[in-house]
Amino acid sequence: MKATHIKEGIYWVGAIDLSVRNFHGYLTQRGTTYNAYLIIDEKITLVDSVKDTHTDEMMSRISSIVDPAKIDVIICNHVEPDHSGAISAIVEKNPNVTIITCASGKKGLEQHYYGNWNYHIIKTGDTYSIGKRSFEFLLTPMVHWPDNMICYMPEEKILFSNDSFGQHYATSGRFDDEVSHDEALYEAKKYFANIVLPYSTQVIKELEAASKFEIELICTSHGVIWRKYIAEIIQEYNKWARNVTKKKVVIAYDTMWKSTEKMAYAIYEAFEQEGYEIALRNLQVNHESDVMTDVIDAEYICVGSPTLNSEMMTNVVGFLTYMRGLAPKGGRKAMAFGSYGWNGKSIPGVEQFLKDCNYDVKAVFTHQYRPTKEDLQQITVRTLKIIKQNN
Ligand code: FEO
Repeated sequence: MKATHIKEGIYWVGAIDLSVRNFHGYLTQRGTTYNAYLIIDEKITLVDSVKDTHTDEMMSRISSIVDPAKIDVIICNHVEPDHSGAISAIVEKNPNVTIITCASGKKGLEQHYYGNWNYHIIKTGDTYSIGKRSFEFLLTPMVHWPDNMICYMPEEKILFSNDSFGQHYATSGRFDDEVSHDEALYEAKKYFANIVLPYSTQVIKELEAASKFEIELICTSHGVIWRKYIAEIIQEYNKWARNVTKKKVVIAYDTMWKSTEKMAYAIYEAFEQEGYEIALRNLQVNHESDVMTDVIDAEYICVGSPTLNSEMMTNVVGFLTYMRGLAPKGGRKAMAFGSYGWNGKSIPGVEQFLKDCNYDVKAVFTHQYRPTKEDLQQITVRTLKIIKQNN
C-alpha cells in the first residue's frame, strides 16, 4: 500500500477501516481512519500510529517511503489504542527509537504495553527539532484522555491535532476538499457530540492556546485532513464547545401502543407552529449516538417513555444514560412525557434524568392509556405557551 504525499517529505501513512461500525457504542456508519504521519528529515519521525489490527497496513505504507526500522522518533499524542496500537511494531524493528510523549502518556503507554521504551517526556511549550523541522507541544489533557496532546510544526504550518477536529469517516480522499463537505462536517459534529463534548471546557482552552499558530493544515488522527475549511471547522468547534444552541428541538421517545408517540407529535405540532427545526427521533429506530448529534445544538430536549413493568423503556434509559454521561452543558430547556396503564413511574424517571443533565425542565406531560384528540390539543397548547414564555 502507498503513502499519501502531504507536503515535501511529509506523508500520511495511516489505515482506512471501512468495516468498523461500532466504536465502543458510537455507531460509525461511515467507518473510520487511523491517521499516522511520516516526516522524512534528519530524524525520521512518525506522528502517532494506528490500531493494532491495522499494523500491517501502516507498515506497508511506511515501507513505500522508508524502511520502518529507520524511524528515529515516534510522537505519541494519545495513548488510546486506536493511535498507539502499532508503536510496539516499530519498537520491535528499532528498540532505540525515541518515544516523545507527556508524563501521562508515558504512564499510559507503560500500563498498556509494559515496554521499557526510550522515552523523551515533554510539557506544554517544549520544542523538539528533527532537523530542518521542529515541533512545539501543547498538552490538552482530557481531550480525550489525560494523556492527550497536540503538536505544531512551525516550518510547515501544520497542526497535528490528534482526536480534536477528527471524524469517523473512511473515504479514499485524504483531504477535506476531496470529499463531501456536508458529510465531513456532519461526521466532525458527530465525533464532537459523542467523544469530545464532556471536555468542552478543555477544548475552549485548547482553541485559545492554538489560536497563536498560523495553520495551513490540520492533520487529525481520524478522517480527513483539514486544508480548505480550517476556519470553518475551528468556528464550528468554538460553537459546539461553548454550547451555542439554535432554534431547534429534539423529541426523543419510545412507544408501546402509540400513545406516547401521539404525545410526541402533539409536542412536535407546537414547535412546528413556532418555526423550530425539529428532530423527532423514535429511539427504536434511531441510534443514541445519532440522536446525541442532534442534541448538540438544540435549545429544547423533550424525552418520552411509556411505563413498562414500573420502569422506562430500555431504549429510553439507554439514551438518557448515554446523554447524562456526555453531559451537554448550557441553558437547555427540557420536557418529559409519557403514557401509562396503571403505574406511571417512567415519567418521573425521565424527568429526573433530565434534571441530572442540568436541563431546565419546563413541563411534564403524563396520560393514562390513550390520549384523546382533546388531550393532545391540550399538550400542544401548553407546549406553545411554554415556548412563547421562554422566547
Ligand atoms: Fe481516537 Fe481518543 O482516540
